[in-house]
Amino acid sequence: MAPAKKAKVEERRGMLAAIMVTAVALPGIMMTPFMIASSLLTAWLGLASLMVARFMLPNVLAEPPRKFKIGSPNDFDLGTVATRFVASQGVWIVHTDQYQGKNMIYALLSVCTHLGCTPSWLEGEQKFKCPCHGSGFYITGVNFEGPAPRPLERVGLRIAEDGMLEVDKSLKFQEEMGQWTDSNSFVEIA
Ligand code: FES
Repeated sequence: MAPAKKAKVEERRGMLAAIMVTAVALPGIMMTPFMIASSLLTAWLGLASLMVARFMLPNVLAEPPRKFKIGSPNDFDLGTVATRFVASQGVWIVHTDQYQGKNMIYALLSVCTHLGCTPSWLEGEQKFKCPCHGSGFYITGVNFEGPAPRPLERVGLRIAEDGMLEVDKSLKFQEEMGQWTDSNSFVEIA
C-alpha cells in the first residue's frame, strides 16, 4: 500500500476508535451521583404528582345499576317472596295480598331497620328474620318482634313499556311516613 494511502487508512481507524471510545464513555458520564440523584428526584416527583392527581379524581365504583328489570309479573306467584335478587341487588320481590287487602307486588330492601344487617326470608315461618339481634318482619315488611324500630323499606317498582317489572333503587318508601300508598312503591295485580 502507498504511504499516503496507508496514512489515510490509519487516520480513519483513529477517528473510528475515538468515536467508539466516546460512545462507551458517554453513559458513564451520565451516571454520575448527581445525575442519579437528579433522576431519582424527577421520578419521585412524577410519582407524587400521579398520586395527587389520583387523589383528586373521584372514585369510580362498579356499583350495580339502580334500575333493573326482574321479569314479568307472572313470574311471581301470589304468596311468595323471591329471594334470588338479594345477593346481586339487595331486594326481595314480594307478591302478597296481606297488606291492606290489595293484591300487589313490591320490592323490599334487604336491610334491617335496626342496624343494617341482612335478614333472611324464612318460608316455613312466613317472616323475615334478622340474624343480628332477632328482629322479625311479616311478609308485608312490617316489623313485629325484636329491636327494629320500623318496617323494612320499599324501593321503586313499575311496569316498564315492555311489560316487564322494573325496580328503581333510587326511590325509597317508608311505611311509617305514609309512603307505601305511593303508586311507585308497588304494582297492583288485577
Ligand atoms: Fe337487625 Fe339488629 S340489625 S336486629
